Amino acid sequence: MYRSDSCIAHADTESLDDIFRVSVTNNRREGITGCLALPDGKFVQVIEGIRSKVDALVDRIRADVRHRNLTVLGEWPIQNRLFTGWAMARPDPTPLKDQSFRIITETGSGAQVTGILSELTEQTESLFRAGSW
Ligand SMILES: Cc1cc2nc3c(=O)[nH]c(=O)nc-3n(C[C@H](O)[C@H](O)[C@H](O)COP(=O)(O)O)c2cc1C
Repeated sequence: MYRSDSCIAHADTESLDDIFRVSVTNNRREGITGCLALPDGKFVQVIEGIRSKVDALVDRIRADVRHRNLTVLGEWPIQNRLFTGWAMARPDPTPLKDQSFRIITETGSGAQVTGILSELTEQTESLFRAGSW
C-alpha cells in the first residue's frame, strides 16, 4: 500500500485510462489484485498478490515517471484478499467526507487508507449490482 504524488494533470483522463488498461492486463496475468485511486494530485494504491510478484511490480511502478515521492505506507501478509475479482479497482474518492479524504491524501496509515478504499470499492460494486453504474 503506497501513496505518491501524481505528475499527470487531473484532467488528463487519457493518460490515467492508459495506466488502468495496462495494469488490468498485466495484473490479471500475474494474479495481482488491488485498487488505485487518485485523490487530489495523489495516487494511492493497494496491491495484493504473491510476494515476489508484488515486489517486482512495485519496483516497476517506483521507476515510473508519471508520479514521484512513492511512499510505502504499509506492507503486511494476508490470509484473504480484500479486492478479490478486481485486477485493479478504481474507486472514486470524491464523495468522501473531509476527514476520510484527509486520511487518504495526507495523514492516514496504510491500514486506514486500505480500509477506506476497500469500503469505496464495495460501494462501487453495489452500484454495479443495482444497475445504476
Ligand atoms: C500510479 C501508477 C500505478 C501503476 N500500477 C500498475 C499496476 O498495478 N500494474 C502494472 O502492471 N502497471 C502499473 N503501472 C504501470 C507501470 O509503471 C509500468 O508502466 C507498466 O507495468 C509497464 O507494463 P508493460 O511492460 O506491459 O508496458 C502503474 C503506473 C503508475 C504511475
